[in-house]
Amino acid sequence: MNLSKNKNIYLPEVAVLDRVVDDIPEVKTFYWRFENPAAQAEFKRFRPGQFAQISLFGVGEFPASLPPSPTEEQTFFTIRQVGSCTSALHQLKEGDHFAVRGPYGNGFPMEEYYGKNLVFVAGGIGLIPLRSCIVYALEHRQKFQRIQVFYGAKTPGELMYVSHFQEWQEKGLECSLTVDRAGREWSGNVGVVGSLFKKPGVTIPVDNTVAFVCGPPIMFRFVIQDLLALGFQERNIVSTLERYMKCGVGKCGHCCIGVAYICVDGPVFTYEQIKRLGEDI
Ligand SMILES: Cc1cc2nc3c(=O)[nH]c(=O)nc-3n(C[C@H](O)[C@H](O)[C@H](O)COP(=O)(O)OP(=O)(O)OC[C@H]3O[C@@H](n4cnc5c(N)ncnc54)[C@H](O)[C@@H]3O)c2cc1C
Ligand code: FES
Repeated sequence: MNLSKNKNIYLPEVAVLDRVVDDIPEVKTFYWRFENPAAQAEFKRFRPGQFAQISLFGVGEFPASLPPSPTEEQTFFTIRQVGSCTSALHQLKEGDHFAVRGPYGNGFPMEEYYGKNLVFVAGGIGLIPLRSCIVYALEHRQKFQRIQVFYGAKTPGELMYVSHFQEWQEKGLECSLTVDRAGREWSGNVGVVGSLFKKPGVTIPVDNTVAFVCGPPIMFRFVIQDLLALGFQERNIVSTLERYMKCGVGKCGHCCIGVAYICVDGPVFTYEQIKRLGEDI
């Protein structure tokens, strides 16, 4: 966001919290807007896959993905409570203030994927950064071929955004869910997310397809192996890298891996680039 030429790039804009929704244990979605309508309009030009820095006054600042698609009206973050800043955000109530700067990072080049099949593979809260691309793709449905989501979590209660899945399916999303452990209430697949690829009736086009992969490192490694075995080329697999960040704008060096600044060169990279960075995820 750069509302004026002389603006301090580290200065966040004040945001007000409109609504908080419980998602899964320890994860909530925070609907918010900037107090300054001009800042809101400027921010809404973000791309799927970009991130922002969230400030909690007197506590600190942390990076978070932008789960909404730029085509959606509302701005929101989905945040898991892990430490001091995320806990401070989780304690805020409707009407409370915090601050945001961004959007930052490269984002997914969705226009380059026009005419292609999209395969989204996510584990746990890895669906948060991919949500933006999924909604964007469904809002531009005619620009893409098949759109598939393969999504897994530890238990049914830990599947993110389940309330949206039916609407997404009605808009043309092919969706397969799985869990590691289930009770009697779950009639779907049980197993790792890659087990969905081998289910009877499931076909995954490899030619003219981009695979988006986000999730915990162990899931990432196995899914990459599965996708390569299916015939995907490394340059057609994309993901986001998470690194400890401070400035978010390529100045401090905290996020460097080799020659890459994750905050400006990423967080979106192809698997081919990730391998070249020597990154072990
Ligand atoms: C580009 C980017 C996008 C992100 N998007 C999201 C998002 O959409 N939603 C979300 O919930 N989180 C997201 N994160 C992770 C989020 O930034 C961290 O969870 C946050 O910085 C933790 O801050 P804290 O002050 O609450 O925790 P701290 O007090 O700094 O740390 C508390 C504990 O959590 C651990 N921890 C800190 N960061 C991480 C991490 N990244 N992963 C796992 N453990 C960690 C620390 O090692 C420590 O043990 C993203 C990170 C990056 C780099
Ligand atoms: S976070 Fe400072 S250079 Fe990337």
